[in-house]
Amino acid sequence: MSSQPAPVTFEHLLDGLGTGVPEPRLSWTLPAGTGAQVAHEIEIARGGVTERTGRIANSLQILVPWPGRPLVSRERAVVRVRVWTADAPAAPSAWSEPAAVEAGLLQPSDWQARPVGPAWPEDPDSDRQPARVRKDFTLPGPVTRARLYITAHGLYEAEINGRRIGDDTLSPGWTVYGERLRYHTYDVTAHLAEGANTLGAWLGDGWYRGRIGFDGGHRNLYGRDQSLIAQLEVTHDDGTVTVVATDPTWQAATGPILFSGLYEGETFDARLHDPAWSTPDGRTGDETGDETSGGAWTPVAVGERDPRTLVAPTAAPVRCTEEIRPVTVTPRPDGRLLLDFGQNLVGRLRITVDGPAGTTVTLRHAEVLQDGELATRPLRAATAEDTLVLPGAALTWEPRFTLHGFRYAEITGWPGGPVEDAVVARVHHTDMRRTGWFACSDPLVNRLHENVVWSMRGNFVDIPTDCPQRDERLGWTGDIQVFAPTASFLYDCAGMLDSWLCDVAVEQLPDGTVPWYVPVIPGGPQWTPIRPGAAWGDVAALTPWVLHQRFGDLELLRRHFPTGRAWVDLMARLAGPDRLWDTGHQLGDWLDPIAPPDDPAAARTDRHLVATGYFAWSTRHLADSARALGHDDLAADYGRLAEEVADAFRRRYVLPDGRMTSDSPTAYSLALVFGLLDDPRQRRTAADRLAELVLLDDARIATGFVGTPLICDALTDNGHLDVAYRLLTQTECPSWLYPVTMGATTIWERWDSLRPDGTLNPGGMTSFNHYALGAVADWLHRVVGGLEPTSPGYRTLRFRPRPGGGITSATTRHDTPYGTASIAWEQTATGMTADVVVPDGCEGVVHLPGCAPVPVGPGRHRLDSGELDRAAA
Ligand code: BGC
Repeated sequence: MSSQPAPVTFEHLLDGLGTGVPEPRLSWTLPAGTGAQVAHEIEIARGGVTERTGRIANSLQILVPWPGRPLVSRERAVVRVRVWTADAPAAPSAWSEPAAVEAGLLQPSDWQARPVGPAWPEDPDSDRQPARVRKDFTLPGPVTRARLYITAHGLYEAEINGRRIGDDTLSPGWTVYGERLRYHTYDVTAHLAEGANTLGAWLGDGWYRGRIGFDGGHRNLYGRDQSLIAQLEVTHDDGTVTVVATDPTWQAATGPILFSGLYEGETFDARLHDPAWSTPDGRTGDETGDETSGGAWTPVAVGERDPRTLVAPTAAPVRCTEEIRPVTVTPRPDGRLLLDFGQNLVGRLRITVDGPAGTTVTLRHAEVLQDGELATRPLRAATAEDTLVLPGAALTWEPRFTLHGFRYAEITGWPGGPVEDAVVARVHHTDMRRTGWFACSDPLVNRLHENVVWSMRGNFVDIPTDCPQRDERLGWTGDIQVFAPTASFLYDCAGMLDSWLCDVAVEQLPDGTVPWYVPVIPGGPQWTPIRPGAAWGDVAALTPWVLHQRFGDLELLRRHFPTGRAWVDLMARLAGPDRLWDTGHQLGDWLDPIAPPDDPAAARTDRHLVATGYFAWSTRHLADSARALGHDDLAADYGRLAEEVADAFRRRYVLPDGRMTSDSPTAYSLALVFGLLDDPRQRRTAADRLAELVLLDDARIATGFVGTPLICDALTDNGHLDVAYRLLTQTECPSWLYPVTMGATTIWERWDSLRPDGTLNPGGMTSFNHYALGAVADWLHRVVGGLEPTSPGYRTLRFRPRPGGGITSATTRHDTPYGTASIAWEQTATGMTADVVVPDGCEGVVHLPGCAPVPVGPGRHRLDSGELDRAAA
């Protein structure tokens, strides 16, 4: 008798409430030691009817197609699974614990809600005071179930009867609002009761109409209104339903938030706060305004929203995931307080404070200090300043509609009393499930890895951003293109990136051009109009493939295939018959360390070499994707095209003696890793020259965004593992560990964001929290740790640690879609020992240095290289 599977999950969500997918795919894992699944049965209970599929003979466990009729709007189903295994083919396991899924509003006609917001005159070109909206209503009977479907033009935080709904932040997040606006579904049954009730919401400008972007930014990018769209559906014990939807009967007023901006921060006058505002006791119909509620409640303006554009989330929202207390608090002679949280993070402060009414407490934020003061220049026009005006009674406050990237904060106006326990930094990001861990015997490498994790956290804020602190925070395509393999090891980001890729598809131009950043906003002459650029646009062809490999989701690959195909077709047209893409505006090996601070594209590698190299690489991946999707003809066509491009690349960029026209580490790394050199002698020459170049520079890094994710693999796979480790363990600038030695707690945008003399890099673009150069962590996981998938979703996986650099042990763990896989290796006098764990349902191969590969099935295995067959030479 085998044991019970874990509760099923739906699509890539942990919570099945409010799914937008009528046939959500199901996944389950098996407890260790279950044995290989040979059959399963799914049970779906809904509306008092229970249906079972009967025993289905196969080994599918992840993203298994929904076996029943599709869900309809609001329909709830409870799902269980049981399995049969090879060890006990006659006896099913116990049923999994039940898991519930519930559809959101799947039909446009389900929506009655209209956008409602302030009707008072506003100057669209100035900072506007945010509104609150509210509605009193009566429920005619006891409540058995209540759902709130809600979104906004702008940001919202809802309350019912004085209690906050949900714990998400910056909802509804950032999508291409005109085409896709997310709504969330909340179970609010416990918030309501028969009789008088009130639903209210705080509103913020957010990305919708707040000032977004660099060079001064732009307001009103998606509209001038600030509106709530909410539909509360309450089911009573007699089966009747009361619907309360945003409509002309709602009211709007300003409140204690005087201003709120994602970059600027928030100003809150607590004297204007009436905690009862979202209860039936809150003031309504007061046309004159008063000091308690902060403003008059006035009729709302009612706007328009096409309900066909409302979409359900495919990932968890942004939430606070951790709280960090200050490590030090340093009073300044002038009364200011300087707080150090010991970690560069993204979030905001929550403070508990008491003092005379009208006292103003100001919170400023920065990632680094310069001469002992907050260094705010790198923030450019993001002032990142929160202000609280005290009400004259103790209160705990945190801004609502803003986030800052900071390690240090400065408080002005603190009225007295201990600060350490009264201030906490609350870390915010998309609340993804952590799935990957790595540690080794080298503490500096461990801190590097930790920094990568922190930079991922700070920049996975609903969309994958470049940086979280300055007036930018955009979904730069190149950054996530290089970081996606690392990201998908560390966290389950499939749902979040799937959503963002849907926006990439929306923003793709009809000719196939993929924008520099998504969602698209105006960006000055360099970025607008949008032009195609290599390594950035390639996100369309490469990232769906990465997600398919790591999460085993073929539908995701299918969904995004047309975007990648249009991109590759565009490159083919741009390159023309000679197959060389050698035109246009290219960023190339962005941020090569020799590029001057004010010209980050001035790399030592020919940017057109990069463009044609990426053209070949994306085309190859498109061919592989076509094959995986069963489009054999397309696979053959694009496979041929990839060969032609590779051929053109060699003819144009590889010299007769095997050197390349750009004699640079990025050129050789790209040619090697992208498989562009077919002759083994050419590969040898390239690899040896690459190693030589690295050593000539004493293993300091000489690559930018393009070469950095590739160089260690290029060396490792071509006989220069030792040189890869020299690069990894270098601590002098520029190198991966240099920032670590300078106290970095996140990955920097520039190799020398902080220069060896302690001064800030003078470039206008100097972030201390940028994940792109942290893409090396994928190599740490696969090569130092030794864990990698060999088929989609880690159904088969390889444990192949390749130690070096004085590292004597490493532990790597990944929660694959099938369960936990791990390897812990340790060097011994005779070689190494490795403890590996293979998830149930998976097959592994352990490949220890110098030893023949050993196949391993599910479960724990201990291997000792001293006891294994030596590999044939
Ligand atoms: C961003 C990047 C991005 C780059 C492209 C920068 O401003 O921060 O990381 O990829 O521009 O030019």
